[in-house]
Amino acid sequence: MNISIFGLGYVGCVSLGCLAQNGHHITGVDVNKFKVGLINKGQPTILEKDIDQIIHKAHKEGKINATTCVDEAINNTEISIICVGTPSSPQGHLDLSYIYRTAEGIGQALREKDSFHIVVIRSTVLPGTNHKVGEIIAENSQKIRGKDFTVISNPEFLREGSAVKDYYHPAVTVIGGDHKEALEKVASIYEQLDAPVEITDIKIAELIKYVNNSFHALKITFANEVGNICKALNIDSHKVMSLFCMDKHLNISSTYFKPGYAYGGSCLPKDLKGLVTLGHDNYLTTPVLSSISPSNENQKKRAYTIVENSGKKNVCMIGLSFKEGTDDLRYSPSVDLSETLIGKGYHLTIFDKNVQLSKLIGANEAYINDKLPHLSELLSNDLGQAINDADVIIVNHKNFDPTPYISLLEKKTKVIDLVRVDQLKELPNYEGLCW
Ligand SMILES: NC(=O)c1ccc[n+]([C@@H]2O[C@H](COP(=O)([O-])OP(=O)(O)OC[C@H]3O[C@@H](n4cnc5c(N)ncnc54)[C@H](O)[C@@H]3O)[C@@H](O)[C@H]2O)c1
Repeated sequence: MNISIFGLGYVGCVSLGCLAQNGHHITGVDVNKFKVGLINKGQPTILEKDIDQIIHKAHKEGKINATTCVDEAINNTEISIICVGTPSSPQGHLDLSYIYRTAEGIGQALREKDSFHIVVIRSTVLPGTNHKVGEIIAENSQKIRGKDFTVISNPEFLREGSAVKDYYHPAVTVIGGDHKEALEKVASIYEQLDAPVEITDIKIAELIKYVNNSFHALKITFANEVGNICKALNIDSHKVMSLFCMDKHLNISSTYFKPGYAYGGSCLPKDLKGLVTLGHDNYLTTPVLSSISPSNENQKKRAYTIVENSGKKNVCMIGLSFKEGTDDLRYSPSVDLSETLIGKGYHLTIFDKNVQLSKLIGANEAYINDKLPHLSELLSNDLGQAINDADVIIVNHKNFDPTPYISLLEKKTKVIDLVRVDQLKELPNYEGLCW
C-alpha cells in the first residue's frame, strides 16, 4: 500500500521504517527540512535501537522517501497517518495546533484529489479530536466525510528505548472509526503484527492511550511509595514488589478493574488505613496511597447525588452487604449510603436476601447496630412489593435478576445501577453510576 506519514519524529520515524519493512511504500512528510533530508539519505531522525538498519535498508530498496510537500504526499498515497506532536500548553491543556495545521494541509491537498482518502490519527489526542479533524478536512477540501474521505483513530503505544520492538509486538492494536471499509483497510496494515486488532468506537480509541499512560504513571508512583515505606522499615522493597507481582489473580490481573461503586468490607479500608498510617508514623508523605480513601468516599457521594437529583424521597435499595453472596455489613458502602439517605429524610426500604437480622452475630451485628440501629424497620423480604412502593431503585448487587420486575422497574422515576447489571441498561429511566 502507498502510505504517507505526517510528522517524522519518534512515532513517525519508527512507523515509516517498520511499515516499509512490512512491504508498504511510505512517503514521510515533515515541516522540518533537516528531518526530510535525513530520511532521503537513508538515515533515521531519531536515536533508537535497530532503526538505523531498518531505515537504511528501506531507503536502499526504494521503499521510503520524504518531502515537505503535502500535495505530493496526498496524491501519491491512499492512507495518511498523522504522527505530529501534541505537547502540553503552558496551562496544562493539550496543544492540538500541529494536528489542526496538518489537517488543514491535508484538506487543501484533497481538493484536487478524486479518489477516497483515509486519514489516520496516530498521535495521542483527546476524545473529540477525530471529529474536529474531520470538520477541518471537510472545510478545507470541500469534500464529504464518509463519501470522499474518513478519519480513523489508531493510537500508538510504543515506548522510547524499545520503540521498534514495541511497534512489532503491541499488546493490542486499537482502531476506532465510522467507515467499515476504511477500518478494514487500516486493520490490514497491521496484519503482520502478532497482536489482536480491536475495532472500536472513535472516542474509546482516542481515550484509551490516556487511560493506559495514567495507569502506568500510577503503577510507578504506587511502587515508589511502597518503596519509601519499605526503606524506612529496613525492608527490601524489590523483594516485596516481586512477591506482589507473583499474584496474577488479584494484583496483576483484570480483577477489580470494573468501574462501579465504592469498595468496602472488613479488610480493604482497614488495611489501606494501616499502610497510610505506617507511612505517616515514619514521617513519609504518601500522596497516592492517601488519596485512595477520599476517592472512594467521592464514589459514595456520586451515588447519593444521583438519588438526590431524582427529586424523589421513596427509595428501595437492592443489596446491602459489601458484596453479594455474603451477609457481611461491615464497612459496606451501601450501609453508608443508607445512613446518608435516612439522615436526609428519605424513606428507605432495603432488600438483601442474605441479610437476616436474627442471624447477624459478633462484629457484624455490633457494626450494624451502631450504624443502622433501626435496620429491622427498613428490611423487606418481598422484593416485588419493595420495588412497587418506591420511586427510586438502587441496585447494588450484580446477582439481582431483574427479569420478573422489568414492567415494575420501567415505571419508576429512576433505576440507579451501581454495579452494571446489563439487563437494566435498556430501561428508559436507567442511570449507571460511572458509565
Ligand atoms: N514519543 C513516544 O514515545 C510516543 C509514543 C506513543 C505516542 N506518542 C504520541 O505521538 C505523537 C508524536 O510524538 P513524537 O514523540 O513522535 O513527536 P516528535 O516531537 O518527536 O515529532 C513530531 C514531528 O512532527 C513534525 N510536525 C509538526 N507539525 C507538522 C506538520 N504540520 N506537518 C508535518 N510534520 C509536522 C515535527 O517537525 C516533528 O518532527 C504525540 O502525540 C505523542 O504523544 C509518542
